[in-house]
Amino acid sequence: MLVTTQEMFEKSMKEKFAIGAFNVNDMEIMQGIVDAAAVTNSPVILQASSSAIKYAKIGYLMKMVEAAVEEHPNIPIAMHLDHGPDFETAKMCIDHGFTSVMIDGSKYDFEENIALTKQVVEYAHSKGVVVEAELGKLAGIEDEVNVAASDAMYTDPAQAEEFVKRTGCDSLAIAIGTSHGAYKFKGEAKLRFDILQEIKNRIPATPIVLHGASTVIPSLVEMCNQYGGDIPGAKGVPDEMLHQASISGVSKINVDTDLRLAMTAGIRKTFAENPNAFDPRKYLGVARELIQETVKHKMTNVFGSAGKA
Ligand code: G3H
Ligand code: 13P
Ligand code: ZN
Repeated sequence: MLVTTQEMFEKSMKEKFAIGAFNVNDMEIMQGIVDAAAVTNSPVILQASSSAIKYAKIGYLMKMVEAAVEEHPNIPIAMHLDHGPDFETAKMCIDHGFTSVMIDGSKYDFEENIALTKQVVEYAHSKGVVVEAELGKLAGIEDEVNVAASDAMYTDPAQAEEFVKRTGCDSLAIAIGTSHGAYKFKGEAKLRFDILQEIKNRIPATPIVLHGASTVIPSLVEMCNQYGGDIPGAKGVPDEMLHQASISGVSKINVDTDLRLAMTAGIRKTFAENPNAFDPRKYLGVARELIQETVKHKMTNVFGSAGKA
């Protein structure tokens, strides 16, 4: 069934698990994710970025979501806008039936972020849609040499409390050391669980979201490289840390990079082993299968959402 994230998050906070939010860009990715949710009996959040919407077109995306919901009526599925850049994009998604939108005002200063988020919250709530906002800056934290400067990019717990109170947002994405893409840490992976805890203490009723949370699964990177890829030195957030986050108050864990790796690894392997293959169903089918395996692993062994549909 198509739902907002509200019921999912209530359950996740009560029972201490996280729900995976997986980026969708085409049919194979969506089917791989939704089939994994069905097999593991897990709630799932499908999310599309504005560039995914530009690529796949919003009408196609929503028809595919409709089909997924029809095929799996007992699985709670939410459709979410990832990193909504402005009010207009959020409104377009709400008007097309998304059940949740993110407004990413993290690039603005505190007051501007609040004003933009409030504007989206007002419209979204009038249509029964929930809103994720972001406070703190993810990108490039690991590139900061200066510790004081990098500290300044983590979410400030006192500001988080004020932000949620003033905007009325339904969930909050925070920066505790993750970043987007396949190169998250130069040295050891490190997340600031102390900051997460302080934020939870101040806003215990607000579901917390972790972006940039791909594991950058070593076996998938290896598979890409083995079959002609060149992705050296990639590093993500280890499964143990994501599991820790899932039982420590993080309700939504965003994954895109691992799906990109799974898809690429599947296609590369198929081409390498079958140089004469040119039926897209052959290599896209293998990619879809690998996406499903990847998502199943996360739901079952890492996030704890399996069996929680
Ligand atoms: O957080 C960003 C997601 O990985 C989406 O990336 O804007 O290239 O679709 P994208
Ligand atoms: P990854 O790049 O770690 O998969 O993060 C995805 C994300 O945060 C989407 O919003
Ligand atoms: Zn993100």
